[in-house]
Amino acid sequence: MRMIELIHKKQQKEMLAENELHWMVSEYTRGNIPDYQMSAMLMAIYFNGMEEIELTHLTEAMAESGDQIDFSNIDGFTVDKHSTGGVGDTTTFILVPLVASVGAYVPKMSGRSLGHTGGTIDKLESIPGYQVELSENSFIQQVNDIHCALVGQTGDLAPADKKIYALRDVTSTVEAIPLIASSIMSKKLASGAEGIVLDVKVGEGAFMKSVKEANKLAQTMMSIGKNVGRKMTAVISDMSQPLGYAVGNILEVKEAIDTLKGHGPEDLTELSLVLASHMAFLAGIGESIEDSRSLIEEQIHNGKALEKFKEMVAKQGGDASYIDHPEKFDIAGRQIKLEATKDGKISEINALDIGHIAQILGAGRETLKDEIDLTAGLVLNKKVGDSVKEGEIIAVLHTNKSDDELEGIQDLLQQAIRINWIASPNKLIHKTID
Ligand code: URA
Ligand code: CA
Repeated sequence: MRMIELIHKKQQKEMLAENELHWMVSEYTRGNIPDYQMSAMLMAIYFNGMEEIELTHLTEAMAESGDQIDFSNIDGFTVDKHSTGGVGDTTTFILVPLVASVGAYVPKMSGRSLGHTGGTIDKLESIPGYQVELSENSFIQQVNDIHCALVGQTGDLAPADKKIYALRDVTSTVEAIPLIASSIMSKKLASGAEGIVLDVKVGEGAFMKSVKEANKLAQTMMSIGKNVGRKMTAVISDMSQPLGYAVGNILEVKEAIDTLKGHGPEDLTELSLVLASHMAFLAGIGESIEDSRSLIEEQIHNGKALEKFKEMVAKQGGDASYIDHPEKFDIAGRQIKLEATKDGKISEINALDIGHIAQILGAGRETLKDEIDLTAGLVLNKKVGDSVKEGEIIAVLHTNKSDDELEGIQDLLQQAIRINWIASPNKLIHKTID
């Protein structure tokens, strides 16, 4: 097979065959196809798209390019959720114990990440003693014992995606739905679960800026998953403002604990209940989605979801007393209050800008070697649509940085949080697709 012929085919809008896609992905992963040829292919896909079946084959080839986690030794139906990424999104901590507490099996692997705050794994490390690295055997064993585990990614999952993603980054081919869908789904297929709930974010702080685009991405990922026999549901949710009030590592862990205790922010609570209900429903728990929802709600009210979180933390070596006593968590050296400059309504809390601010405060990293300040971030007091009075506190910044290091942050905050006379908050959940 010759790469130039495959590029030509795609350029002519012809479909690539399963064996051609497998050959291309495996040869590229091994370094036998040069970046310049793969770049041309990515650009051809960018312009000409892919047929559903063709895209499924590409995704399978990428999933098979490295290690694949085998969940066949888990005693029941496994479910996972994937978010396309947003600011202040703490749902993973809530969903894993919540869905496990109704009897589904939730083997969750998460990453560290670049960006505004750390990833789920960085956040977990704020609980003293918590082991994010388990061997594959201990991971499976724990999921069989207590129905959940939340660990860092092990093995080399979808190395083809890592290589292709790096190339897309420098060839302006990131923003193509087939390429985003195959990238995300290749990792999801390699890491196993039988049921997957996708949380596709839309808005200023998300990859997809319009509901139409988000819907297209969700449909594309669902069809790939269904074509390879996974059960799939997608929820399209708002990311124009941050989710919940807290943005930052420890701050978000505390917010997740509050939510498991039944007094979390309204939006974070609602999104968690919706995603958890769909995960439970895919796992066959509940006769209808409404039924799954009431079973899930009950686990918050009766404290069992919180108990499950403590059980998981303790099982992975963490100090579970932090969950009963979140005041034990470290706090940043400085708390800086942000006051409203006038009366009115909060008309915008720009998620992307808030993310950048959290990063400046010390919550995120730019390269994987950077240290994260787990205590840094910010806590909003208001959401879009809320009224404010001049001088009222709208947010508190948590940081260990000096005034010099924070130069310009007041201007950024004024840009990010707008006060006006009218405000029209977006719907939290735009759509559910199943
Ligand atoms: N996230 C991914 O993993 N891949 C993409 O292409 C975009 C977002
Ligand atoms: Ca939050």
